[in-house]
Amino acid sequence: MKLGVPRELARGEKRVALVPESVKKLTQAGFGVLVEHGAGERAYFPDKAYLEAGATVERDPGLLFGEADCVLKVGTPLSGDPRDEVSLMRSGQMLLSSLMPTRNPGVVKGLMERGVTSFSTDTIPRTTRAQAMDTLSAMASIAGYKGALMAAMELSRYAPMLTTAAGTVLPAKFFVIGAGVAGLQAIATARRIGATVSATDVRPEVKEQIESVGAKYVGIQLKNNASAGGGYAAELTEEDKARQRELLAEQCALSHAVITTALIRGVHAPKLISAEIVRRMKPGAVIIDLAAEGGGNCELSRPGETVEEGGVRIVAPLNLPSTMATDASILWSRNVTNFLLAFWKDKAFKVDMDDEIMRGAVITHQGSIVHPWVKEAVASLNGA
Ligand code: NAI
Repeated sequence: MKLGVPRELARGEKRVALVPESVKKLTQAGFGVLVEHGAGERAYFPDKAYLEAGATVERDPGLLFGEADCVLKVGTPLSGDPRDEVSLMRSGQMLLSSLMPTRNPGVVKGLMERGVTSFSTDTIPRTTRAQAMDTLSAMASIAGYKGALMAAMELSRYAPMLTTAAGTVLPAKFFVIGAGVAGLQAIATARRIGATVSATDVRPEVKEQIESVGAKYVGIQLKNNASAGGGYAAELTEEDKARQRELLAEQCALSHAVITTALIRGVHAPKLISAEIVRRMKPGAVIIDLAAEGGGNCELSRPGETVEEGGVRIVAPLNLPSTMATDASILWSRNVTNFLLAFWKDKAFKVDMDDEIMRGAVITHQGSIVHPWVKEAVASLNGA
């Protein structure tokens, strides 16, 4: 089976889906690998390293898409763009990439119509067995790390406590909202640079995890259980939302840096920080809204931009993993290699629908949308 790795086309995307160490592993297992010329260069993996690992380098992306049995990408393939990638795909061909399928129903429909078997790395279930294939977790961890560093860079004060000849400087107070993968990494990083950290989440089971990475847990007793299973949160009731707002307002007013990562069912970013909460924050404080990709957790965030309100800077970065393209590509590549090898039996890739990881990953197959949530989301958009 021939894997094709095109150069990523999305603006600002520096990652590559497969790095040379994985090419070596996959070719040894019996896969063939075609890599587009320059695909890895923005992550510092030159063509030469791919050739040495056993790949073939192809200059023409059209030929690469034409020859590959399975295309490996990081970002959602472009559709409806002059450089349209979906239209380069054919019936029976496979695609493994981040599809964010409920955010990109048009791409899903295009893949279905072309008869492509598509696997989305971000719908792989978050189970123990699938951990080694979970690109969402690997990328969220990078976002949490970078988010904490960005907060420290934006502040006009030290993060750690310092005793100097001119007296003692107190540590900055960080507050992290949402303690999933990104949030826990943001806490751990903020602690490593010496900040005092408190954090909250609506899933009661994460209190211990927050404490284990060195933050103080702050929370309210919710009337309704907010765990949706699989490490995901459900939407709060109006009553619980109102109670949580008070806690958030209080904690934000006390903090120098607020890092937000809240996500519902892995897709929607709830608006948790109102303009009113921002107005009550200290001048010089900073909000790093890591949920920007899903619209943001702060009412004033503008995804991809930095805005200022009453001396509070609100930074809403997009695609932080691409800012660490080397490690992000290595981790991505290992995750997708683990996925491919898990279903590689007798030198053939098996779309085994009896396997829960495969069922979670497959979005379109044999001309239909087979993933239940995605089917629902696309049907509701079509008004069906
Ligand atoms: P996750 O689903 O593991 O964690 C989200 C957490 O938010 C969960 O623990 C959930 O219980 C919590 N939560 C939900 N509603 C809440 C509420 N009302 N109050 C407090 N906590 C609440 O998600 P993960 O993988 O950690 O990703 C976190 C965020 O980071 C996402 O928004 C994701 O899109 C973003 N991200 C951003 C990147 C960037 O470059 N900006 C890159 C990668 C991820």
